[in-house]
Amino acid sequence: MAKKSQETGKQLPEEIHDTPPHTLEPPTLQETAAEPEIDTRNAVGVDIGTSKIVFAVNDRGKMRFLSQRNAFIQVDYSKFTEGILKQNQINYYNVGDSLLVYGDGAETFAKMLNMETRRPMKKGLLNPKEAKALDIIKGILDDLTPPVPLAAPQLCFSIPGVPKNAETDIIYHEAILNRHLEEKGYNSKSINEGLAVVFSELEKENFSGFGVSMGGGMCNVCLSFLSVPLISFSINKGGDYIDDAVSSVTSEVNTRVRHIKENELDLSRPPANDIEDALHIYYDDLIKTLVKAMKESIDQTSKIPNMDRPVPIVLSGGTVKPRGFKERFETYLNRANFPIKISEVRISKDPLTATARGSLMAAMYES
Ligand SMILES: Nc1ncnc2c1ncn2[C@@H]1O[C@H](COP(=O)(O)OP(=O)(O)O)[C@@H](O)[C@H]1O
Ligand SMILES: [Mg+2]
Repeated sequence: MAKKSQETGKQLPEEIHDTPPHTLEPPTLQETAAEPEIDTRNAVGVDIGTSKIVFAVNDRGKMRFLSQRNAFIQVDYSKFTEGILKQNQINYYNVGDSLLVYGDGAETFAKMLNMETRRPMKKGLLNPKEAKALDIIKGILDDLTPPVPLAAPQLCFSIPGVPKNAETDIIYHEAILNRHLEEKGYNSKSINEGLAVVFSELEKENFSGFGVSMGGGMCNVCLSFLSVPLISFSINKGGDYIDDAVSSVTSEVNTRVRHIKENELDLSRPPANDIEDALHIYYDDLIKTLVKAMKESIDQTSKIPNMDRPVPIVLSGGTVKPRGFKERFETYLNRANFPIKISEVRISKDPLTATARGSLMAAMYES
């Protein structure tokens, strides 16, 4: 069972072996059964997303991925509840008269109690309205990132493109996360999320093209030429926007909408009921907004080189997962009179780990 610090109940870093977080399937590389072994030659990539934090490590030549939901719930303290949490190896903090349950366990626990989880991040950045936001993210990072030896391994963590209307907030977000990771012993550096997708997916195109990450809180875009970012930006609409909007126009609660979206939605066939109809409508709206923003940012920049050949667009993030998503995206792209020639639109091999994978590759190039 996980050992807790006496004062806070917080899980100690060395206990990571007791409660291995959920392991995602690595997209291309072999999986190792053992816990990742960090040594000084290892580089680390971390995708700090609104919905999930994904950790990627170069573990003796193999890429390994671990993830935790970036969510928590607060419940009243009772010895009984604490016992249940311990038994189920669910991560938590003791805070005053309550228990803050965070990570993957928060989702499970919230379902059991019929509660909604809360999010330490909103639209890609630390949520200023959640007093405990930073503690939760630190807790999740401490569980995912193992303690490091004396010489600091290189770590790259993803940050969103500068959001419109919150231009200065990202400075705080980046500085706070950077400080925490440096304190943990890493040599830490941020990487734009769209550029991380370019690193992960566009090696064979010499890192030229669009990397797009469509997550829960936002969408991030980077147009890169030979690995140099020319344009990067974010829009603050993503999967959460779809859930909220559909829930608002139907009588279905948010979590049920999300469940249908993640498990049943097929954008390649006509909607079978009102909820699917609304999901189609808001998916279309999100794609249209994104394509329009891509077009506008190209029109507004003077930095576009004369690309001698068409470039690809790679789509990643959880929101691109429904069947038929690529074709929808292509439809709106074709209608947009896009200013740059596109060779193809493709979906990342593993949309949920692309950002972490690209962050790891960036860290490997840095070290
Ligand atoms: N199979 C799926 N179909 C549709 N949406 C999905 C699927 N899996 C995850 N999502 C959605 O993707 C979003 C999370 O994507 P992710 O890339 O993990 O986000 P973030 O970068 O915000 O952490 C959520 O809105 C979630 O509902
Ligand atoms: Mg993301």
